Amino acid sequence: MDIEFEVKYGLDGVAVAISSISCVDGEKGKLVYRGFEIEDLIQNSNFEETAYLIWFGSLPNENELDFLISMLSKKRELPNQIIEMMKLFPKNSHPMEVLRSVVSMLGMYSKKENSTFENAINLTAKIPTIIAYWYRIRNDLPLIKPKESLKHSENFLYMMFGKIPEHFNLFDKALILHEEQGMNASTFASTVTASTLSDIYSIITTAIGTLKGPLHGGANEKVLKMFDEIGSIENVEFYINNLIEKKEKIMGFGHRIYKTYDPRAKILKNWIKEIFINNNIKYFEIALKVEEIVVNKFKDKKIYPNVDFYSGILYNYFGIPKEFFTPIFAMARIVGWTAHAMEYCKNNRIFRPKAIYNGPKNLKYKEVKGVE
Ligand code: ACO
Repeated sequence: MDIEFEVKYGLDGVAVAISSISCVDGEKGKLVYRGFEIEDLIQNSNFEETAYLIWFGSLPNENELDFLISMLSKKRELPNQIIEMMKLFPKNSHPMEVLRSVVSMLGMYSKKENSTFENAINLTAKIPTIIAYWYRIRNDLPLIKPKESLKHSENFLYMMFGKIPEHFNLFDKALILHEEQGMNASTFASTVTASTLSDIYSIITTAIGTLKGPLHGGANEKVLKMFDEIGSIENVEFYINNLIEKKEKIMGFGHRIYKTYDPRAKILKNWIKEIFINNNIKYFEIALKVEEIVVNKFKDKKIYPNVDFYSGILYNYFGIPKEFFTPIFAMARIVGWTAHAMEYCKNNRIFRPKAIYNGPKNLKYKEVKGVE
């Protein structure tokens, strides 16, 4: 048997579900949530309304939107025991380690909601608080409690910094861009956990652990580390050519589905360009040069910037440290994770693929002498 022929490494091209949540067209560079193009949503919608759309399949009316906003704003606070434990965590813990651990711990301390949907709202409301509290705790700053009157993303920036920065609406729109993206690695991983009928905390802990990797959501932090290492526009060519020569992956480039410019990267780049006209946005000129070299070099392989290439420049503009970039990704993507888990479980079948065995056969047991 030809093993290579049988195995789809990375499940490349394998469909594991039928879904009406989003459509990712990798050839045309299009992203559509529930029939709405991403460009339309970022122009006209906001995080909460898009979350409703992704969860329920249609845009909410005024009452439905008010209800969701009110539920999200009432569920933000963490149990006291969790806050006290977070204060004992090692201060150098990465925010993704903290997020993964605290979501898991919440499973023991949070009241179980009546439905999976309410559980999804509860965790969506709490993730920004976990991130902001950890930012304050690790910097020895007093905690800023969530404010019910503020919207989801406004409240997050307020809990981080005590004020809402200029251009904050771009942060809200960046969350929309990250809310959903089909059967990506973290959504698949969490769907596998959901297919065993496990609980929401286990589902989201799985997703966070998967998003953390540098080939997935962890790339946004690595991109800024790369810009820091490059240091100046004069050093870009030498640095990138050196990576290419060593056959190392350049962070923030390439995608399994997009074989053209990732529409999310295009949108982020345009926003940054607009702000850049009046402000000197750190890293932007270096990024443009990196893009020019990489796209040129890998024309044949169709490698373009992905969402993680430009998002960090925007977050950095808001004063958010790099280690917090991937948690912000999780703060938005929980909408897609939970939507897929709920959709898949309507026609649930446990995931159980196979591995083709190519190890030894017909060995006979022999006692190992001289081992105590
Ligand atoms: N830099 C250099 N070469 C690359 C890159 C890159 N960033 N991405 C792909 N390639 C090359 C590969 O080396 C490979 O070349 P080969 O055919 O000569 O061996 C070819 O392009 C195909 O790449 P694969 O790794 O097979 O593509 P795959 O679909 O498996 O992986 C992935 C996609 C993981 C995103 C990859 O492009 C990558 O590692 N990128 C860098 C990390 C990154 O930015 N991740 C974020 C992705 S977006 C997201 O998850 C939110």
